Amino acid sequence: MSRQQEKFKLADLEGRVAVITGAGNFGIGWGLAKYAALHLHMHVALIDLHEATVERAAADLRAVAPDLTVLALACDVTSSTDLSGALDQIDVAFGGVSIGVVFANAGVIFNNSILKSDIEDWETTLNVNVLGVVKTIKAFVPRLQAQTQKSIFCTTASVGGLVRGDGGAASYQASKHAVVALTESLSFEIARKSPHVHIRVLCPCIVSTALMQSSQLNKSAKNAPASTDVAPIKPNEMLMGMTPERHAQQVFDLIADGKFYLVTDNVRPYVDHDFPFGAMDIIAERFDNLKELQLDNVDAFETPALGYPSSILKGPMFQAGTRFGNGN
Ligand SMILES: NC(=O)c1ccc[n+]([C@@H]2O[C@H](COP(=O)([O-])OP(=O)(O)OC[C@H]3O[C@@H](n4cnc5c(N)ncnc54)[C@H](O)[C@@H]3O)[C@@H](O)[C@H]2O)c1
Repeated sequence: MSRQQEKFKLADLEGRVAVITGAGNFGIGWGLAKYAALHLHMHVALIDLHEATVERAAADLRAVAPDLTVLALACDVTSSTDLSGALDQIDVAFGGVSIGVVFANAGVIFNNSILKSDIEDWETTLNVNVLGVVKTIKAFVPRLQAQTQKSIFCTTASVGGLVRGDGGAASYQASKHAVVALTESLSFEIARKSPHVHIRVLCPCIVSTALMQSSQLNKSAKNAPASTDVAPIKPNEMLMGMTPERHAQQVFDLIADGKFYLVTDNVRPYVDHDFPFGAMDIIAERFDNLKELQLDNVDAFETPALGYPSSILKGPMFQAGTRFGNGN
């Protein structure tokens, strides 16, 4: 295995800075920030679109980690100018402290089929989920390369970026396939030159967050002048989803273990039930089909677990969710 896939000693992150985009709505980014602060004793820079949301998230984190510096940065990841301004502010706030980990995690989702979808939703999705990640790479990876210490740069794709497309959020899935591919490219691109920068792609299954609501809010607030008026959205209560905190634990466990594809399934000890998402089965299904040069649409004809057909949301977790009357 190449050097970039080696195990990572998390203790090496202690006292350094964690930078996390999309951390203002108490979702995956927030969970990663909280884990980095409380378990790895890292200072954190929280980045999100609106000042009010990211300030509120930072205030909550400062309350539980008073000995660490928590910086709140309002920044649009689709703007290279905003991102380089964010790095300048990080330099001012943290002086000579090195950046240990960057999570390019901001994202949006608009659920719709292709034929019924709104082109503006596609544009927003590809802008934030794909170009936002590319711009975050261009803003932060050169800094990590210039540092002598080992570091992590992790993009957030989704398990949707590793499995076949179905009738759900086509724009989202297309964007997440792009994130997986561009992260693989980045890993290859810097493998020889900068083996001390470990590139990772996070592919979560189901985490209890407010992603759908935050996406709608950001869409409607896009041109609002006073982003200070936007309130943070707390995660949805999902019986079988991972909490952002326990999800973060799985992310760092996989990083420590030297994995590249951080596929975070709904499995123990990160959830308290025995109904996994079954990510690896669905990924294997895609590759089995590919080897035969086939696409099997059998699920489009099946009685769906969720009320609509899906070739992705069909594993034990969704069957159990139906039995328990839980609409995860
Ligand atoms: N929740 C899940 O089950 C799940 C599964 C797979 C992947 N993901 C991915 O995880 C990431 C985090 O999502 P989440 O579920 O924690 O929801 P979330 O709403 O908590 O996080 C998304 C954040 O991105 C921010 N954002 C959107 N556009 C932005 C922009 N232009 N600039 C800066 N910030 C912006 C939002 O304000 C929000 O805080 C996303 O990339 C999402 O696609 C989530």
